[in-house]
Amino acid sequence: MQICESIKAIKASVSDARARELKIGLVPTMGCFHEGHLSLMRKAVQECDYVVVSLFINPTQFGPEEDFNVYPKSFERDAALAEDIGVNALFFPPVEEMYPPGYQTYVEVENITGILCGRSRPGHFRGVTTVVAKLFNIVQPDRAYFGQKDAQQVAVIKQMVKDLNMDIKIITGKIIRENGGLAMSSRNTYLNPAERNAATVLYRSLKGAEESIAGGERDPAKLREQLLIKINSEPLADVDYVEILSMPELQTIAHLQGKILIAVAVWFGKARLIDNIIMEV
Ligand code: PAF
Repeated sequence: MQICESIKAIKASVSDARARELKIGLVPTMGCFHEGHLSLMRKAVQECDYVVVSLFINPTQFGPEEDFNVYPKSFERDAALAEDIGVNALFFPPVEEMYPPGYQTYVEVENITGILCGRSRPGHFRGVTTVVAKLFNIVQPDRAYFGQKDAQQVAVIKQMVKDLNMDIKIITGKIIRENGGLAMSSRNTYLNPAERNAATVLYRSLKGAEESIAGGERDPAKLREQLLIKINSEPLADVDYVEILSMPELQTIAHLQGKILIAVAVWFGKARLIDNIIMEV
């Protein structure tokens, strides 16, 4: 596996693959790999001929009070895991390579970034779409892989790809969960044992909502109330949002019908965790 720290080096490595008419896959990450990342890499390796994983903790998607400076890092371990899976190139640029002095261009998707995580984390999606657009321009992949845990991120990136006529297929990998149901996330490393245990309430609540729908519940307000009661029954949980929206439009709905997203964001100590289920009603 090639490790490229410069844009020039990764472009050279990919252009060689493109000249050989290989199908190019990109898995954008911020590192600290867990099974969620690894499952995306395996999928990319299965579906593409040349796979690039980017490992870049993107400062522009963190707010001033957020965890950019303490975001977990494990480069050596990450590189070994990616290599084992059969990734061809790891793009690991320093911040100045992606945002050199004088940098001033940003990519912004409008409406659907003003809700859910976009409301709680102003500027977050502007940073995500900017860095992802840059990665897409640098690597020019045929396919790019993202996890469904970040359901809004996937919707925002798909909107950007459509609006900016990017010829890239966005592939979504399912949420990978630990034994107790906790969705895997690099931020789970912030949890102490009590918080980790408490955080399993998220999946139990989402499953409860799914069961209520299966039992005939069609009122999103009642379902939301039920979710809030369940999550708030856990003393260590501090709810940021609980929302039930249409998919992929991310619009509020008066009646549960069609494809829906049930999304939650909840603080447990220093960790703000998100989780969701997408289902057809
Ligand atoms: O999901 C992430 O890890 C990040 O938001 C991404 C897509 C790598 C952009 O920095």
